[in-house]
Amino acid sequence: MVNEEQFSSKAVAARAQVLRDGGADVNQVADLLARADSQAANYGIGIILDGHGRPMPTSPELMAQTMRAGEEGAAATYLSSKPLYAELLQQVLSWQRIPKQYWDNFLLVTPSDAGTGAVNTAVQMFLMMNSKISALAVEELSWPVYQSIAASNRIGFDSYALQDEAVVASNLLTVMQAAPHNSTGYVCPPGIIRARAESCAESGLPIILDRAYPGFENAGMLASQGYDAVMQRSCDHYLLPFLQANCSFALALSPTKAFRSFTLRPCGLTLVYEPDEPKRKLLAGAMNTINRGRGSAFEHPASRAFIRSLVENRAVLELEHGQTLQRLADAQALWQKLLQGHPLAAAFSPQYAGMFRNLLGSEGCEEAFYQAHIYPVLAGNRCRINVTGIPLDEDQAQAHIDVFARLLSL
Ligand SMILES: Cc1ncc(COP(=O)(O)O)c(C=O)c1O
Repeated sequence: MVNEEQFSSKAVAARAQVLRDGGADVNQVADLLARADSQAANYGIGIILDGHGRPMPTSPELMAQTMRAGEEGAAATYLSSKPLYAELLQQVLSWQRIPKQYWDNFLLVTPSDAGTGAVNTAVQMFLMMNSKISALAVEELSWPVYQSIAASNRIGFDSYALQDEAVVASNLLTVMQAAPHNSTGYVCPPGIIRARAESCAESGLPIILDRAYPGFENAGMLASQGYDAVMQRSCDHYLLPFLQANCSFALALSPTKAFRSFTLRPCGLTLVYEPDEPKRKLLAGAMNTINRGRGSAFEHPASRAFIRSLVENRAVLELEHGQTLQRLADAQALWQKLLQGHPLAAAFSPQYAGMFRNLLGSEGCEEAFYQAHIYPVLAGNRCRINVTGIPLDEDQAQAHIDVFARLLSL
């Protein structure tokens, strides 16, 4: 840690370059720099912040269940959640508000490593099923870890535009974020989602729906309409078009943001929807093989805890998810209020939602951000902001907003 006299924004920018040259990705750079500055305002790392610069606390429900699972582990007996899988699948589909008529066509595995593991497992499973796939295709400006997933599975990497309607090709495995897009916050309009679903159905090619932020696009309506409406609307928007078009898809769900489980790192949830029964049987075998290859049948205590919570206490988890959404709604409302009349306010119009916005940085903005002790994720000329970084204190918030408004444009 350095004090104000020793602090030099030039030195921070130089350290950022060293980290980038050393192979750190842009999210890691923002995290490491912020940790080294005692006055840092974290607008980078993607976890829900509480309005005082700290992450919101871990889900109390998952914390308690994990302690319990840890204690049970001391007995060193064979512990596995497999017997709970049928019930778990129903609870997950209920959480996601997926209509019951589709339930029989779903398969589920619970890979370690949260949402990242859920996406990776879906990728590996489709690679195992289809030898023609040579690259992963994701929306432009997406989460950088997709590139790591492609590289570690030894396939190429491609991207498509946020507004593209036909996103499948026989050599590509397409990923679409089925929630507000990380990093732009773009909420894909219903017409585009329907067109994507139709193009998948026509080609018979599968798609991966990555859903790390379920319901986040509707956070602003939580207080007036309630959690059930938030989640139902989210399912209707992002998932129903693929179900109605009879597509094959994998759905990757993460507990990390919704339940704030990032310190515990429980399993993710990979669901596969396959309307064709013979194909579903083949997929079940592939999913089991891939999941076994990622770890033995014995799960981490945090995974057992998450599974048990979903099975026994989904209502409590949903309440906690609602608290996450409310903090996000409050943060977005403050941005909207303090940006009123400024062109950047457009980034908080209904077209955008969720934890992130991605804006254009002006020349020299990197050092200027560090000078103000503000740490967003900087990538080339783009700047990704975690909107929950905004402080509850409006004077402090205004000071930060002034810096963003001065350095960024749409
Ligand atoms: C688009 C997207 N997918 C998946 C994930 C994986 O989440 P985690 O592994 O932290 O649960 C993230 C996390 O930032 C994400 O932004």
